[in-house]
Amino acid sequence: MSPAPTGYAIRAMTLADIDAVMDIAACLPEAPHWRRAAFEGSLNAEDGPRRVVFVAEDTQTSQLAGFAVASLTPPDSELESIAVTSAAQRRGVGRSLWQSLAEVLAAGGASRTFLEVRASNLRAQAFYRSLGFGEVGRRPTYYADPAEDAVILRCNPR
Ligand SMILES: CC(C)(COP(=O)(O)OP(=O)(O)OC[C@H]1O[C@@H](n2cnc3c(N)ncnc32)[C@H](O)[C@@H]1OP(=O)(O)O)[C@@H](O)C(=O)NCCC(=O)NCCS
Repeated sequence: MSPAPTGYAIRAMTLADIDAVMDIAACLPEAPHWRRAAFEGSLNAEDGPRRVVFVAEDTQTSQLAGFAVASLTPPDSELESIAVTSAAQRRGVGRSLWQSLAEVLAAGGASRTFLEVRASNLRAQAFYRSLGFGEVGRRPTYYADPAEDAVILRCNPR
């Protein structure tokens, strides 16, 4: 697995992490706010497409600093959710979560990864572009509350 920034470790998410992961998302208005059942489903191999789900852990406090969820449907994959706590942002945690996911997605047969992001979420778009994602389309009025276009981004992890 790719090295994490100093002070953080990347590992697979478990059921015991879901409360902390939902707390992280709840504090970040731009993060997708999944229900508990959606996180539980992402950890259940028999529930839909194969998911790759990682968390970033502060190695001193054992508290979670972020998480990321991807689905794998070779040759495609989708980065479904990624979030890092405000306190841990801009330290390379998000990049490390993505790199760890990308290794597993490529090993599982994915040659490209897609994602959707709100057109107004320019911070996330800057993050994704720094990882090598580029715009391939838009879905008009894809999001509600507030209504907004989705920007579709694609990256070829291998
Ligand atoms: C998007 C997000 C996951 C990035 O996580 P992060 O750990 O802060 O990102 P990293 O530190 O790994 O950043 C890697 C690079 O991405 C770019 N980047 C990250 N955040 C950025 C920002 N706010 N503005 C501009 N560029 C940014 C930079 O190029 C950065 O490299 P640098 O710090 O050396 O300049 C985090 O900001 C977040 O959780 N946002 C709220 C939730 C969200 O919007 N999720 C995506 C929904 S689709």
